[in-house]
Amino acid sequence: MKELRIKKRVVNVKGELRVPSDKSISHRAVILGALATEITVVHNWLKSEDTLATLNILKALGTEVKERKDSIEIRGTGYSFEEPKGVLDAKNSGTTARLMLGVLSTQPFFSVLTGDESLRQRPMLRVVEPLRDMGATLDGRESGNKLPIAIRGGKLKGIAFFNKRASAQVKSSLLLAGLRAEDMTEVVEPVMSRDHTERMLGVFGAEVISVPEERGHLIKIKGGQELRGTDVYCPADPSSAAFACALAVLTEQSELLLKDVLINPTRDGFYRKLRDMGALVSYENEREVSGEPVADILVRGGGGLKGVKVHPEEVPSMIDEIPILAVVMALAEGRSTVKGAKELRVKESDRIRAIVENLRAMGVKVEEYEDGFEVEGRGKLKGAYIKTYGDHRIAMAFTIAGLLAEGETVIDDPECVKVSYPEFFKDLESVIEYL
Ligand code: S3P
Repeated sequence: MKELRIKKRVVNVKGELRVPSDKSISHRAVILGALATEITVVHNWLKSEDTLATLNILKALGTEVKERKDSIEIRGTGYSFEEPKGVLDAKNSGTTARLMLGVLSTQPFFSVLTGDESLRQRPMLRVVEPLRDMGATLDGRESGNKLPIAIRGGKLKGIAFFNKRASAQVKSSLLLAGLRAEDMTEVVEPVMSRDHTERMLGVFGAEVISVPEERGHLIKIKGGQELRGTDVYCPADPSSAAFACALAVLTEQSELLLKDVLINPTRDGFYRKLRDMGALVSYENEREVSGEPVADILVRGGGGLKGVKVHPEEVPSMIDEIPILAVVMALAEGRSTVKGAKELRVKESDRIRAIVENLRAMGVKVEEYEDGFEVEGRGKLKGAYIKTYGDHRIAMAFTIAGLLAEGETVIDDPECVKVSYPEFFKDLESVIEYL
């Protein structure tokens, strides 16, 4: 594992950047393509370790895939896969594991799904329990909570499920299983989580009902619907764009255009929160692409950022951006808090711990809560040794912190960015100007 040393301090961020395509949408595009009939062409597909884990599992299940320069072609199986000969490996990807548990639950064969050391520690009962209620047989370590998990799928029946964590992975897993179940499958969430599965199911010709209700938001799908192969265009990932955006808002003379970014309201909470802090962030050329809202995001530095509160109901719309938001908070003036974000403890690392520990190492006063943290923003950071815990978003967030800190910062495992953003360091270099 080679460390990264950051010595130079950034002055400005200038120019345009089209960051890699959205990870959540890229996973879903190939999964739905494989479940559909006929051919699906996914344009601008994100090729990263996480999405390749999904693609390789689909191939191991007998899906024919042709990889082209800017697109990927999937021959749909119409929900009819082959029994895999070996163990399926979701690597570091929670989305792969949880969505594929839903898909495999519909298949009348035996399969085993595992993942890397980090993923094998992450909770799976949140999908295993409702999938068992639908009629699938799943077993694994800790009564089915931890990978490896063995699945014997088959005939399922629809259920009504209250998704108390507002998790899109759980919702999507159940919708994908529900498509092959008898009757209706219903999922209610207290706050709407990212809705890419619902939107994309519409693009593939399925009918999904999505309506507000008393306890939050209801999604319903009727079993037995066919998906039809189609073209899907993947927009740039707002979670990846967040790093260069943060660097731009934190540097006086910056002007950066982030091209083609997904601005789905279930995902753009980070950009809205930056505006609340006083940052100059605007959406230009808003349009719709493959059922998703997209824009070019214009970011200017020199906004003079103030501390801000993130409330529990806002967390799902910025869940993956909280590490970089914490860095912005540390460089703003005044106190900032994040509450209701306990889920961060079971991401690729315990992100609350990693944020608190690394910000403290950079000289920031931070209080840790079970479900969040409080940061005292003083407008400055000192260089430090950053422990990423192999977590891509911690590595990228603290690279930005390191570029703005006095003195040297060391990132212990920069390679882990490959999970979502293989060209992260190169892209950053292309838009920053050093002192
Ligand atoms: C994802 C959902 C979120 C998010 C993850 C991707 C998805 O997880 O943190 O990076 O693609 O559905 P949860 O569903 O656990 O909130």
